[in-house]
Amino acid sequence: MAQFYDKRDVVEKYDNDIDEYPDIIHKSIMEFVIKQNKDSEDVQKYDLMLDAGCGSGRSTTMFSKDFKKIIGFDISSEQIRIAKAKNISENIEFVEAKESHMPALDSTVDLITCGFAIQYMDVVKFVQECKRVLKPTGCVVIYAFETSDILPVGKSISAMPALISFINEMKHWSKDHYPPDFEYFCRYENVFQKVSGISKSRENDLEADMFISLADLKAIILAVPGHGMYVNWMKENKNRDTLQELGDEIKTTWGMKNVDDADIKMQMKVSIFTIILTQL
Ligand SMILES: C[S@@+](CC[C@H](N)C(=O)[O-])C[C@H]1O[C@@H](n2cnc3c(N)ncnc32)[C@H](O)[C@@H]1O
Repeated sequence: MAQFYDKRDVVEKYDNDIDEYPDIIHKSIMEFVIKQNKDSEDVQKYDLMLDAGCGSGRSTTMFSKDFKKIIGFDISSEQIRIAKAKNISENIEFVEAKESHMPALDSTVDLITCGFAIQYMDVVKFVQECKRVLKPTGCVVIYAFETSDILPVGKSISAMPALISFINEMKHWSKDHYPPDFEYFCRYENVFQKVSGISKSRENDLEADMFISLADLKAIILAVPGHGMYVNWMKENKNRDTLQELGDEIKTTWGMKNVDDADIKMQMKVSIFTIILTQL
C-alpha cells in the first residue's frame, strides 16, 4: 500500500501541496512529553525522538529544538531523498527504515511520533518496536486530523455538508479499494483496537484552523494517494468528476460561482485525533 510514496510524482505532489501542520500539534505533544518526565531534573532538551513514516520531514522539523537528536525514518527512498534535500537542522537525520526495524537502540527513545502514517504500517510490529526502543518514561503519539468545518474567511456560511457527502463517498469507496484511507476515515479506531501490551489512550479534543484556498483544497485531495485514486476511479468508472462536483457545490453554497478557485480563501477547521502509548 505504501508503494505510492515511492513514485516520484506522487511524493513531489504530496510535498508541494500539503500545508504545514498547525502549531498546536507540536505544542500539545511536547506538553505530554514534559508531563511524562515530570520527575526528571529540569530537562532543557530530551535525548532522542523518532518520527515514524516521516515523509518529507514536515512534522519531524517541528521538534528540532526539543531534542538533542531526531531520526525521521520512512520506507520510501523517494520521501527520504526529499527530506534530506530540505533538511537544514544538524540534529535531524533521515533514514530509510520501516516500523518493524526502528533505527534506534533499546531503551533510548523519549518520543516516537507517527503523523498520518500508521494506516500504512503493521500495528503489531510497530508496537513491538516501540516497546523495544522507548525509555521507561518514553511515549508514542500517533496523530492525524480531518476537516470539521469549512467557511469562507470572515463569514459563517458552512460548506461542510458538501464536504461531508464527498468524504462519505470516499470513505465508502476506500473500504474495499484502499484500506489505509478507510483506517484514517475511521479516525484510527481499528488501529487503536489492534494496540496491545502497552498503555493506550485517545485524545480527540484538539482543534485548529488552517487557511487555504479552494484550489489548495483540491490539490491536497489529489495529492493524498488514496484520495487521488478515488477521484480518478470515479472518473474512469462512473464518468463523474467528484472533485469538480465538490468545488461547484462549495461555490454555490458561498454564492461564489464565478470566482476562481485560487481566489476563494477559506478557513478550514480541523479536528486532530491522537493515540498515545506509554510504557508506564
Ligand atoms: C501520508 S505520508 C505522511 C508523511 C509525514 N508523516 C507527514 O505527516 O507529512 C505517509 C508516509 O508513511 C510512509 N510509510 C508507509 N509505510 C511505512 C512503513 N511500513 N514504515 C515506514 N514508513 C512508512 C510512506 O512512505 C509515507 O511517506
